[in-house]
Amino acid sequence: MTTDSSNTNPTEDFSQCHVEIIKNFQQLKQLGESDISDPVQPDIQALADKLVRFYHDVVLIHHQEEEQELFSVVIDCASPGDELDRAKAMVQRLTKEHRSLEKQWKKIEADIKKLAKGKSVSLDKAAIIKMADIYLLHANYEEDEFLPLSSEILKDTGMSSLGLTLHMRHDSIKVPTYI
Ligand SMILES: [Fe+2]
Ligand SMILES: [Fe+2]
Repeated sequence: MTTDSSNTNPTEDFSQCHVEIIKNFQQLKQLGESDISDPVQPDIQALADKLVRFYHDVVLIHHQEEEQELFSVVIDCASPGDELDRAKAMVQRLTKEHRSLEKQWKKIEADIKKLAKGKSVSLDKAAIIKMADIYLLHANYEEDEFLPLSSEILKDTGMSSLGLTLHMRHDSIKVPTYI
């Protein structure tokens, strides 16, 4: 994927945001729908290993970067009144969702780590599928609602593509894949 968005309207690229993140949460959902054998199928073991590393190397860092680099700048630059109120409400919602998703991951991580070591487990399939679905909704909301607003708020600051840059950054990170 190109990271040079200088010739394109950032809003046109929002659909490209979260590409790797969405792919990984779709795969998490597939893992939750899988029947685990004993011994664990090698492809399931490799997928579990990849998902655990992706969560720590990309997802957690992405949350921190959004909160520390993007959300605070958007709030600082929003015009008092309706725009600031909307931005604050969205940032509050997204930050709350980050904490909630991190809690949900903690509940399923031990089992996924066991799978990554090849140990058969009885997965809490419902919890895995639910977390994946909620993450995908979170990513969609950011792309459809928050990133366009942040681009609008930052348009005169020279940082209009900050949200986009931050979301593109991880698309180029290659977490080794085995499947
Ligand atoms: Fe987020
Ligand atoms: Fe994001």
